[in-house]
Amino acid sequence: MVAPITRETGPVVVEKVHTGKVVGISIIAALGGFLFGYDSSVINGANKAVFYQFQIENTSLQGFVVAIALLGSAVGAFFGGRLADKIGRKKVMVIAAILFLIAGLGQAFPFATWDFMLWRVVGGFAIGLAAVISPMYISEVAPAHLRGRLSSLFQLAIVVGIFSTQLVNQIIIGMVPDGVQEPVKNPAVPPVEANNVLALGLQAWQWMFLCMVVPAVIYWLLSLTIPESPRYLVAEGKSAEAKVVLSKIYVEDVDTKVAAIEESLKGDHKPSMKDIKGPKFGLLPLVWVGIILAIFQQFVGINAVFYYSNLIWSAVGFDESRAFTTSTIISAVNVIFTFVAIAFIDRVGRKLLLLIGSAGMFVTLAILAVTFVTAEKCTQQLIDAGTNSSCNAVSQLNNPMLSDSSGWIAVVALCTYVAFFAATWGPIVWVLLGEMFPNKIRAAALSIGVMANWIANFVVSESFPTLVSISLGLAYGIFTVCALLSFFYVLKFVKETKGVELEDMESLENVKA
Ligand code: BGC
Repeated sequence: MVAPITRETGPVVVEKVHTGKVVGISIIAALGGFLFGYDSSVINGANKAVFYQFQIENTSLQGFVVAIALLGSAVGAFFGGRLADKIGRKKVMVIAAILFLIAGLGQAFPFATWDFMLWRVVGGFAIGLAAVISPMYISEVAPAHLRGRLSSLFQLAIVVGIFSTQLVNQIIIGMVPDGVQEPVKNPAVPPVEANNVLALGLQAWQWMFLCMVVPAVIYWLLSLTIPESPRYLVAEGKSAEAKVVLSKIYVEDVDTKVAAIEESLKGDHKPSMKDIKGPKFGLLPLVWVGIILAIFQQFVGINAVFYYSNLIWSAVGFDESRAFTTSTIISAVNVIFTFVAIAFIDRVGRKLLLLIGSAGMFVTLAILAVTFVTAEKCTQQLIDAGTNSSCNAVSQLNNPMLSDSSGWIAVVALCTYVAFFAATWGPIVWVLLGEMFPNKIRAAALSIGVMANWIANFVVSESFPTLVSISLGLAYGIFTVCALLSFFYVLKFVKETKGVELEDMESLENVKA
């Protein structure tokens, strides 16, 4: 019999562990995040070339070709949890790696629009699996006192993945001949530099996708070398194997740990989707907390702000041609500030950081919204006059025209907003989703939370262009309100999980799973 566990209220216990080993396997698991970042943003450098290749003229279809991957991710997340409980965490990682590989090849060599979309769905599915399995696996192998830092490696990998795509795309574009070689078939979908042939008869955009094969193979091979999660092994009745894995991580006290895991998993059946059913709209209240956190992570607008930042930069003189510099600055801020989360998450805790993040994003988004609302707007008359460089095309109609000073305020607010996201909500939502649920419901609850994250991402990306066409200030205003709401939501509903053993989550969260 295991002694009652009440550790969650005491000071964080620092256990003796084989740090190198646990950091090593967490980095391998986090590689799924790198591919998540790579696959989700490689399209930004390749989209126009693909539209030319298959003459995709319809703008809604263009948007859908890009966004369909997000739906694939939602489906991947949904199945990720079941699979993880059925075949184990490690096999799901291997499947995700193989699907990334297939998606990279498929997107590089499509025959037509329909199969390009299919490969995007496959890649999206792999992203969904990775987004479930990496946070789950890392929290299940990490010692409690290091868990926040190790789980944050997943977000670090995502942002490094996004950053690498930009670099790879830029290097590839730098290697093709300047100017556009392909003929214009239809002025509505003209060729771009990424349509130029780079090598082996393949165009630059094809190489952008092909490059994904390298990290996918590395992820595949390395994921074969890590041990299975001890929590999964105990759930499968393989406690002896779990002990072996735990003794590679912990220096002492492995028997008590296995006993505590066994105790937490006691019940008449193996973990399954049914276990998350509950009284609040069909689900356990804690599952709703995970879902709502995942939705807020998207509803504060990070992806929309990312992709629409060109307008803000152009106001301070960085036009489209310097888009690479601007997106590199934003990506660098995103990477650097993720280290702030890694430094503080196990010291300051998840909840306080989330609150700081919500407050910081609220202020910076509000500054952006006010700047946009108060700025003079681009009108047809001004376009016709052609006197203002940020108002000389129909696509700029209604856009706010920022002055030099308001432009700089917007740039600083934008970068500060990304910094707040990167240091708080970016990593912490993944950390919490991986650790906040008791052992019995982790896989199922996590997969529903991650699915909600992708659906919310889809909703924001699909509705943002429409919102912007009404008013950019309105779009940012909505994100501002969401940031404010997220503050009060966290304050009321999120419990601090810093240093709490996974086996103690049930009593901390007061869940009867
Ligand atoms: C979010 C992604 C976002 C990325 C970039 C992740 O935590 O889930 O939607 O693109 O951070 O920072």
